[in-house]
Amino acid sequence: MMHKHEKIWLILSTAMIVGFFLFAGYQTFALQMGPPSHQETIDPQKVDETEPFDNPGVFQTGENEYEVVMTLQIFSFTPSEIEIPAGSEVTFTMTSKDVTHGFQIAGTNVNAMVMPGYVQKITQTFNEPGEYLILCNEYCGSGHQLMATTITVK
Ligand code: CUA
Repeated sequence: MMHKHEKIWLILSTAMIVGFFLFAGYQTFALQMGPPSHQETIDPQKVDETEPFDNPGVFQTGENEYEVVMTLQIFSFTPSEIEIPAGSEVTFTMTSKDVTHGFQIAGTNVNAMVMPGYVQKITQTFNEPGEYLILCNEYCGSGHQLMATTITVK
């Protein structure tokens, strides 16, 4: 026969596991907080010839909206100079030309992996003027720690 306390803990822990699953399912499907699906693919050998990456840069797409089309490669970000007005919503559309890189903006929640063969998109609103440091946070080779750039928000 099972001890009474044992039974209570078994029920409680089972309920917790079921609860976590339900919560994760709710976040993913109801709140659409699932991880990026990486549906958009690209031939990593032909990034320079493939739109929009044939023309990387900063583009205004709305009143307070910008798109930054960016390629990541050993050991740099293109474009390297990004300047946007404060209050802008910026969508970064990125891909890698070689190995897996990271895209982290210090002081924000932006933190993404950028893999060859895939298009990564991430949106961030910059309300505070200043210089934001962009770092590669995936080890990508001997120059990894030098792979950084800045965004200037004016
Ligand atoms: Cu790119 Cu580390």
